[in-house]
Amino acid sequence: MTAFPSRRGRRLRMTSALRRQFAETRLDPAQFVLPVFIVSGTGVSRPIPSMPGNNQMSVDVLSEVARRAQDAGVGGIMFFGIPDTKDAEGTSGWDPAGPVPRAIESVAAVAPELVRWADVCLCEYTDHGHCGVVVDGIVDNDATLPLLANAAVAYANAGAQVITPSDMMDGRVTTIRDSLDSAGHESVAMCVHAVKYASSYYGPFRDAVDSSLESGDRRSHQMNPPNRREARAEVLEDVAAGADIVMVKPAGPYQDIIRQTRNTVDTPVAAYQVSGEFAMIKAAAANGWIDGEQVMMESLTGIVRAGADVIATYFAVDAAEALK
Ligand code: PBG
Ligand code: ZN
Repeated sequence: MTAFPSRRGRRLRMTSALRRQFAETRLDPAQFVLPVFIVSGTGVSRPIPSMPGNNQMSVDVLSEVARRAQDAGVGGIMFFGIPDTKDAEGTSGWDPAGPVPRAIESVAAVAPELVRWADVCLCEYTDHGHCGVVVDGIVDNDATLPLLANAAVAYANAGAQVITPSDMMDGRVTTIRDSLDSAGHESVAMCVHAVKYASSYYGPFRDAVDSSLESGDRRSHQMNPPNRREARAEVLEDVAAGADIVMVKPAGPYQDIIRQTRNTVDTPVAAYQVSGEFAMIKAAAANGWIDGEQVMMESLTGIVRAGADVIATYFAVDAAEALK
């Protein structure tokens, strides 16, 4: 008779109490950051069809959403603005009366337990939809840097605690850090999108912010999906330049990059479960093809298991409520 191995993997899987006690990865609502889309006006709550449950909201409506997120224990909120006017330079991006500064002030008052993250990019604010100023048909890196810094300072002035540049221009960490410090915001942190891929998973987001490129794409600044060593170089560079947190985006399809980043630096690692990842789960669940709540939790668990400390996710409130 062949000896049966003395270890049996099933022993610690037999009951839900055992599974719970020996879980290697745990989710905590404090890890979640809820992205929100802000418009001007009052009483506005416009559903985003490709992102069920998400709305473009005016600041008063946002207050209710923020309170609910805070009550659920969600750790943070990330602001995106849909301005009334767009121009070639994205000047509405640093208007102190624009949607994002007003939203930040309001959330600071009504839901102070939510950490306030402000995305910084110009593509919501430019009439051509590019992430920076366009010169001779391409996004001009160095001319874009001071404009990004203007937006970062405007959001910090309004009370943002984590500035989150998502533009992928070279040199932005140094420029934005210097501008924040000069404006007296040396205590405001930066979560840099160190690794942001040129991803088709961003599709629904473009509807959410009413932004579409009149021509071209973002492949000259966002990373090429096949590249992993390059991600390491971006992370090391951004941490050396002063990033407090590094972000990987998208999350689920890039878990190897999250793990590599976790093993490369000791700063916190954030991951962004983007609109397309969310939309796919919602669509399959709506068809009855998967169990939406189970897949939501499994997708977040995978991202944390890969090494993320914090996740920006449209599931933030639902997942936090499911953990109660
Ligand atoms: C803008 C920005 C994008 C996302 C966040 N910030 C879109 C893009 O770069 O094309 C995507 C987020 C999502 O899909 O949920 N720089
Ligand atoms: Zn952009």
